[in-house]
Amino acid sequence: MQISAVSKEIKEWSGSALIAGVLEGEIESQINLFKTIIKDTFLSKRFNDSKFEGKKSQKLSIELIEGKIKKVIFVGLGNAENLRINDLRKAAVIGTRQVSSYENKLGIFFPWDAFDPSLAACAVGEAIRLSSIKDLRFKSESKEPTPINEVELIGLDTKSTKSAIAEINPICEGVKLARELVSAPPNFLTPYQMAKEAEKLANDYDLDLKILDKKECEDQGMGAYLAVAKGSDLEPNFIHLKYSPKNAKNKVVLIGKGLTFDSGGYNLKVGASQIEKMKYDMGGSASVLGAARVIAELKPNDTEVHFIVAACENMINGSALHPGDIIKASNGKTIEVNNTDAEGRLTLADALVYACKLEPDAIVDLATLTGACVIALGDEIAGLWTDNDQLSEQLTKAAGKAGEGIWRMPMQDSYKSGIKSSIADLQNTGPRPGSSITAALFLKEFVNSSIPWAHIDIAGTCWTEKDRGITPKGATGYGVRTLVNWIKELSLSNN
Ligand code: BES
Ligand code: MN
Ligand code: ZN
Repeated sequence: MQISAVSKEIKEWSGSALIAGVLEGEIESQINLFKTIIKDTFLSKRFNDSKFEGKKSQKLSIELIEGKIKKVIFVGLGNAENLRINDLRKAAVIGTRQVSSYENKLGIFFPWDAFDPSLAACAVGEAIRLSSIKDLRFKSESKEPTPINEVELIGLDTKSTKSAIAEINPICEGVKLARELVSAPPNFLTPYQMAKEAEKLANDYDLDLKILDKKECEDQGMGAYLAVAKGSDLEPNFIHLKYSPKNAKNKVVLIGKGLTFDSGGYNLKVGASQIEKMKYDMGGSASVLGAARVIAELKPNDTEVHFIVAACENMINGSALHPGDIIKASNGKTIEVNNTDAEGRLTLADALVYACKLEPDAIVDLATLTGACVIALGDEIAGLWTDNDQLSEQLTKAAGKAGEGIWRMPMQDSYKSGIKSSIADLQNTGPRPGSSITAALFLKEFVNSSIPWAHIDIAGTCWTEKDRGITPKGATGYGVRTLVNWIKELSLSNN
């Protein structure tokens, strides 16, 4: 799909379908805007007949017999004063869903003036591309819908938006990769296969790659991570990818939880705990690898980025972790495993210790860590935990720009009593109330306090049961764009 901005007026544009945004309450002036392509009395009547007032999500298609445009799809945007960039994203998706497969050149005509042109171009371009991704890999007969070939953003300055538009495809490919990794079932995406995916990225984009096998992890003393992997027939793979531009001025680490399947272990997921969905327990690592793909292609200056995944499965066999086992992480802390289903934090513990040894300026981890976070924030908002206000602001801004929901949650230190063990240094779970907070506090035990660190719980956001337009049903690829925005901004602020 080719996306471009054309500084034309609509009467000069030709193509198969025009998606036109209409503001509520200003219908007369809006009708005027289109009179060069549709007679105003006719349009006014059609709007009236179908009660189209420009309200959010309203739509109306009109086929044109004469002229250079075959069809106009009007989409309501609501009131001008409440117009947000997300309304443009949504309207673009509603509009493109009305487009028939034979209409392959689309024009988008929105009230762009209220927005930064590059930001608007990027938001709308990404929305169209991301809403149309379909995963047909596991269908025996895959009938690929005819893709839209060309999208033109009409009335946006061609020159000034060029570099932003050039980033749309690489960004969307990263989100697509993340979604595909998440949707791949556990019999396809094994810890080994995850390492292969990292290897592919390293080869395609010239990144440095280190894979630690079980023996090498043992040598590092990663007793927490390895304890989780013990119950699986599949060996763990600790993945470390590195993007290092010349003369980098700062260094960050991104860590993703990489459980290719989480059965719960001996604290088996029973009842309504959705064991059949637990292929998505590697959502954090999918976003991190998706971000790696984007970063490697966009090549931002100044920031060295490390991508880390402690990949494994949480399964049951004769050598699996027992509930009650005491294990030792690579920073020497001992953990009483009072629940084998709180496995993500065990794998992350050793990943965090490893990350700190790289002496980065910041660490961000993404993890499908707790069901409690889903209960608290639902599937559109991720939870953010950090003691560092600056990092919190940066990530919130990056997520906001991407249209990805995020909300800072409290790092309530007094709740640490919940993960006190009478026999070891820590136990891996506390009481149910506030259990997303104790999970974050558990992770904090493995981070060097002088390194700014943030934890993002994406248990709710990595998957959606309903089609949300930009994110169709299934894997969302949440986090890729937030991470990429954050890193791009870090590089810029260093110049
Ligand atoms: N992978 C799950 C968290 C999860 C639950 C993600 C639902 C997505 C949807 C995690 O490993 C887990 O099982 N957490 C437990 C922790 C509990 C035992 C303290 C949970 O949230 O129930
Ligand atoms: Mn679990
Ligand atoms: Zn898990």
